[in-house]
Amino acid sequence: MKILIADKFEKSGIEGLKSLGCEVFSEPDAGALPGGVAAAIQRCNPGALVVRSTKVTAASFEGVVAGAPGSLRLIVRAGAGVDNIDVPAASAKGVRVCNCPGMNAVAVAELTMALLLACDRRVPEQTIAARSGQWNKKEFSKTGLGGARGLKGSTLGVVGAGAIGRAVIKRAIAFEMRVIVWSRSITREHARDLGAEWGGIDTPALHAMAAKCDAVTVHLPAAPDTNKLLGREFFAAMKPGAVFINTSRGSLVDEAALREAITGKGLRAGLDVFDNQPSATAAEWVNETVRLAGVCATHHTGASTDQAQLAVAEETVRIVKVFMETGRAENCVNERA
Ligand code: MLT
Repeated sequence: MKILIADKFEKSGIEGLKSLGCEVFSEPDAGALPGGVAAAIQRCNPGALVVRSTKVTAASFEGVVAGAPGSLRLIVRAGAGVDNIDVPAASAKGVRVCNCPGMNAVAVAELTMALLLACDRRVPEQTIAARSGQWNKKEFSKTGLGGARGLKGSTLGVVGAGAIGRAVIKRAIAFEMRVIVWSRSITREHARDLGAEWGGIDTPALHAMAAKCDAVTVHLPAAPDTNKLLGREFFAAMKPGAVFINTSRGSLVDEAALREAITGKGLRAGLDVFDNQPSATAAEWVNETVRLAGVCATHHTGASTDQAQLAVAEETVRIVKVFMETGRAENCVNERA
């Protein structure tokens, strides 16, 4: 089978696909070139497409003839979220879309803990001051509102109980935090098994949980029912000076409401994802939220560790192998395509 990799991808994954006997076209810049992924698909005529952040829009499928021999039948998203792929457009052409859930969960959970600690200890501000030639133990060692509280004994609200949410809970417990978990489907038993308290399943319960927490972290996929889930009411419910972490997707957060809470009541925020983040991996970018004091910003790098990318590459190869051998699409998100 011909495979088009339209993104940067681990060498082990490329080798793994070749060892299956696949003809591999590695075009890491395909999304940014004229004609985008659509042109690359027409040029390479692959049976399978592998992407990480590259957008696969409806236009990408224009030249695809559903069911034609040798035409595109499978897309593997080398990661968990599939929001960069127009899944209905893929389904309309009979193309199966699969993802690699859980493979980067630990990496995202690790960044979540890093952001939580960085916000509490104001690591970015301390670094900026040090770089500008300022020694300011006076400012950065103050206690009370605006100072470092410490994680032990504080309450963390975890929004979402998938692989990433669960990995965060485990790490927060190791830091001796009290954890409350909220998700649309979590039961009291499930929360208890995770070592957490049950935060409920509906939006009023989410807001009630926010009011009890010193920090809240979000681990849900981008979907119509999660769009701007963390909005004005949610931020109004959060305690003054609390920490808000988002390593999931920018679309979940109403950033204007978040900014109001940062400037209005000293909320701190650790953000890895943004509604207006560029789709290119390197670009000029302006975002009003990251300019505010109390905000730690990373560049959608939650999944970007060697461990995670090797695991994702291995899972991608496994999915392609099973598909070639049996026609079965594992971790398929559009089963009826
Ligand atoms: C994911 O959806 O798993 C991450 O956003 C992946 C990534 O950055 O590649």
